Amino acid sequence: MEKFLYGVSTAAFQIEGDDGTQGRGKSVWDSFCDRKDTIENNANAKVTVDHYNRYQEDIQLMAELGVNSYRFSTSWSRLFPQGIGRLNDKGVDFYDRLIDGLLEKGITPFLTLYHWDLPQSLSDRGGFQNPDFPKWFAEYSHFIATHYGDRVKHYCTFNEPINAIRSSYYAGVFAPGHRLNEEQALWCMHHMHLAHAATVEILHKEAKGSIAGVAMSTFEEYPTVLTPQGIEVARKQFFEKEDLTEAIDVYMDPMYLGKYPQRILDKFKDFAEQTEINRKKLEGIQTDCLGFNTYSGCPLLESGEPASRIEGVPTSTLGSIIDPNGLYWGTKFLTERYAKPLFVMENGIGCADWVAVDGKVHDAGRVDFLQQNLKTVEQLREENIDIQGYFVWSLMDNFEWLRGYSCRFGLVYVDYETLKRTPKDSYYYFQKYLKNKK
Ligand code: BGC
Repeated sequence: MEKFLYGVSTAAFQIEGDDGTQGRGKSVWDSFCDRKDTIENNANAKVTVDHYNRYQEDIQLMAELGVNSYRFSTSWSRLFPQGIGRLNDKGVDFYDRLIDGLLEKGITPFLTLYHWDLPQSLSDRGGFQNPDFPKWFAEYSHFIATHYGDRVKHYCTFNEPINAIRSSYYAGVFAPGHRLNEEQALWCMHHMHLAHAATVEILHKEAKGSIAGVAMSTFEEYPTVLTPQGIEVARKQFFEKEDLTEAIDVYMDPMYLGKYPQRILDKFKDFAEQTEINRKKLEGIQTDCLGFNTYSGCPLLESGEPASRIEGVPTSTLGSIIDPNGLYWGTKFLTERYAKPLFVMENGIGCADWVAVDGKVHDAGRVDFLQQNLKTVEQLREENIDIQGYFVWSLMDNFEWLRGYSCRFGLVYVDYETLKRTPKDSYYYFQKYLKNKK
């Protein structure tokens, strides 16, 4: 059996920073930050935690933590400032140094190609709406595979397709903030599916022995009534939302089963007709593993209605309810339907942490959260569910999208004035847990 990966996760835009001298092109999130009153406190990610310059210190923090893997994303516009065409050597070199530094410490790199920071110049040409999107993405992934593929064997193509499509092109809440209709969003999704399929093929060919998957977020429904009927109702809610921009099966079936759910083709006849030839490119797809980003849980009654929660239920600062049943049932539902090994690619809690008078960060809530979720992972493994890794979101506090710096997810506290890193109690808890695993 492959070794179980215990790691931490981050994403390029949230941690790297860019002072304008690094040759990185603008991404849609840079533009979003420039829009007044869009991000809390009008924050931006020009410095964030300056990982670009402090990556060695951050690798050292991971090594001391004792993780054996690190999931990070490459910034598309750091490598290709315009998205396609000219490469930025400084960017190429940065990820070379990061990857080599990880390997020197025995930390397996897990590379995400797309964590929402679409190059602005490609967005100007329609981004995911443009039928050329798969071609652009394939150029980027071909570079990743041929340049880093000798050292990186674990890949995630798209982080949270629901946010990449629904939040960014339909609900308009994430960059670039478009509000398209359902069918137009379906086209965006289709271009993502084709890009994913092409990338998996490229990775298999060029990065020999590599595996690839997608990191999916869901609405975390789970049954509270454990009868076959109760479980079936929850499973259906989990996969088949009526609004297709929320429907997990529409995002995942093409990536793992090589086809769209029939109800979508019945509903959008023009789409079905116009994609008939291209949909063949999805058939026979060999996506190797599942990724699951999970933060909460949503209990359902046998009727499919959400079970009501009593007042005072434990929640994070971001308002998400602490409930590891989401991890448990989501893992079961996903591995059952797609029959692939699963990595929990993100699991964490956003809190208002601070440095106490003793100079330490006592994040008791996060310690308990980790304890609950790690216990759940152990339970799944005991039940022989094919789970092969668990990554905490996140290594350190960072730019939390619309919330700016108002909410902290790290195992390591970052002082945003001095950029000093201080491991929190949760870091030491996880360190001890990992030591005991050895
Ligand atoms: C995203 C991360 C984000 C985290 C916490 C996930 O949806 O992939 O980028 O920081 O949730 O909100």
